[in-house]
Amino acid sequence: MKTWHLSTKNTSYLFGLTDSGHLEHLHYGARLGVFDPLLLHEKMPDPTGLLLDEETKVSLEDLPLEFSTYGKGDIREAMVEIETADKNRVSDFRYVDDKVLDQPYAASDLPWAYGESKSIEITTRDETSGLTLILSYQVYERCDVLARSCRLVNTSDQPVVVHRLLSAQLDLDRNDLLWRTFDGHWAREREVHEKELNSGILINDSKTGTSSNRHNPLVILREKDCDEHRGVCFGLNLVYSGNHATIGEVNAYGKSHVVWGINPHSFAVTLLPGETLESPQAVLTFSDQGLNRLSSQFHAFINTHLIPRRWRSVPRPVLINSWEATYFNFNESKLMKLAKTAADVGIELFVLDDGWFSKRNNDLSSLGDWNVNLKKLPGGLKRLSQKIHGLGLQFGLWVEPEMVSPDSDLYRAHPDWAITIEGRKPTIGRHQLVLDCANPDVQDYLIHTFTDIFSSAPIEYVKWDMNRNLSDLRDGSHAHRYMLGLYRVLRDLTRSFPDILFESCASGGNRFDLGMLAYMPQIWTSDNTDALCRIDIQDATSQGYPLSTMGAHVSAVPNHQTQRVSPLETRFQVACFGVLGYELNLNELSAESLKAIQAQVSFYKEYRELFQFGTFHRISPNNQTNLTDWMVVDDDRSLAILLHFQDRAIANPTTQRLHPIGLDPETLYDFSNRPFDIDIGLFGDLINMVSPVRIKPDSLLHTVVRKMKVLHTEVEHGIADGKSLMAAGIKLKQSNVGGFSDETRIFPDGASRLYLFRKID
Ligand code: GLA
Repeated sequence: MKTWHLSTKNTSYLFGLTDSGHLEHLHYGARLGVFDPLLLHEKMPDPTGLLLDEETKVSLEDLPLEFSTYGKGDIREAMVEIETADKNRVSDFRYVDDKVLDQPYAASDLPWAYGESKSIEITTRDETSGLTLILSYQVYERCDVLARSCRLVNTSDQPVVVHRLLSAQLDLDRNDLLWRTFDGHWAREREVHEKELNSGILINDSKTGTSSNRHNPLVILREKDCDEHRGVCFGLNLVYSGNHATIGEVNAYGKSHVVWGINPHSFAVTLLPGETLESPQAVLTFSDQGLNRLSSQFHAFINTHLIPRRWRSVPRPVLINSWEATYFNFNESKLMKLAKTAADVGIELFVLDDGWFSKRNNDLSSLGDWNVNLKKLPGGLKRLSQKIHGLGLQFGLWVEPEMVSPDSDLYRAHPDWAITIEGRKPTIGRHQLVLDCANPDVQDYLIHTFTDIFSSAPIEYVKWDMNRNLSDLRDGSHAHRYMLGLYRVLRDLTRSFPDILFESCASGGNRFDLGMLAYMPQIWTSDNTDALCRIDIQDATSQGYPLSTMGAHVSAVPNHQTQRVSPLETRFQVACFGVLGYELNLNELSAESLKAIQAQVSFYKEYRELFQFGTFHRISPNNQTNLTDWMVVDDDRSLAILLHFQDRAIANPTTQRLHPIGLDPETLYDFSNRPFDIDIGLFGDLINMVSPVRIKPDSLLHTVVRKMKVLHTEVEHGIADGKSLMAAGIKLKQSNVGGFSDETRIFPDGASRLYLFRKID
């Protein structure tokens, strides 16, 4: 049997050519050594199903395949469905030839990973229609990731309509997997859900025109006993930012079948003779060492093969964002005051968010009119940026290019540029319409307008926002053409401005995907900055995306999304596990809080490479207890930081123990906690247990005492080798036991600590 063996450091992907010319999937899992592929060949392909022909006895109903099509006996979800000129949708592509590519291949109009160690292409052909389907495989050897895609070439002499062209298929001879998805909405992105992948069909998809916060394209399949540290799991994702679908089922013979790619729902692309339609890259990874390993493989892939080369391993600046500090209500002097305080505490980048253009004093108007509001900023962006630079800060700017407000000069001049359907009232979202990025005139306009804006002042960072879903699409290809048009704009602008650090945003994380990451190395994870919610959101996001991609900000309390009050140090320590920023009015904080923030910023800067690019481990599976522990370890395992977070305090609790992982067993480590001050006000009336005079809570005296007397965090310190630390763990000092002494770990709701492990030379 002719076979193709795609191997990475620890995995093997194997498929072979059947006598009938079909591509039979043989294995995806642990790396194989010497192996006769016939041992994996399907021996009894469904004798009772439909037969392709009497002689060969090939039935497609149960044969594990590299791709399924409709109409010749394969009744599973197809990867490809094409309607030919005579209106029939049957196809049967068989092998023609294959080649190993010497030069890396990349689709010219889609985001694409780079730096593969091997790339192969297999050409297949449907005899009856004359169509050609080319399958591509790329191997990213060191990070145990593979990519798949396909392109359909209309080599016939008739137009055809493509109803589905998914990117990949995975057929596994087992029916014991759990199907994990990352679902949600605005401000509660990527909630983890699991179902059994069993008889019936499961679909994880988006029809919003974005990859969406409703269902992220990341899907994980795991064995039931696979956890963070052990067991078998598969990770699937897609390098695309629009409508996607992952469709899974288990067939009548107990085999799992999964296909994923652009959502086939309402999809229809006409392909003329000679034209080609290309699917985005699907990526897949396998781990038999649990979910942490699977995540690390995706992290390495994104950091080394996907984000723009210019930003690989480049430490990201600590920023202050004006949005929750001022909303639309600012002028130059207010911004400069914010920037000045930001500079004083060590922040490096000032980001001017929404509200700087035209009459944008609320979200009712002006998107599309990208001329500076000279009442707010009399010297324009240039003078503001120069002044910001004068404080030693970089300058960044918020834009939302894909949108237009009906109340804007742009819309009045070009109503036809918005996505609408003649005769139908368009659906509005956040008072805005979407510019039709599928229209080349709109693409040109966006490129020219934003080239001018990005050149108009010294700008080192851009937050590219997108705040509503698509609606009123005109035909089955529109959503995809929108994406291709947007990608053209992004390609052009990011090439013209390679030194601008772009951060993607879509009402927070409505477009947190591999497509956007190919142009913009970081994404605003969620508009929800509540530390307790962020624990869940960042924990889930980390399952498929590295910390270097996650914008994470410290914001005010009560939190603007949940009204919850969580400690400043926890807001910071959670945001450390991402790209740190601040998004609050620093000038309204007390001197003590500013001092604390100054210490935070300097701590993060000292360890930012570890936080952004270290190997990340989730230690306690989230949602199982009131505790979450995360850990980052640097490449040579000489430095690590562990976050210990408690969502809800328990009275008279059991001992809490840390279980560090990822350390070097042979290395001797110094272990200590990050110290900070704790507000004595936390104790309320309890302060009277130690005070010689009665202090009424919230009285003036209480305020004075709070200012004069601060408590310090407990001290935890010790020396041990990595092996012992990982085997025995570390018992922490007791908390919440009724009394209080220097030995007490003050650990109420929402408390957290960072613990450092430093190699002793
Ligand atoms: C979206 C973003 C926010 C902010 C506002 C501005 O909601 O997610 O961070 O930029 O838009 O209007």
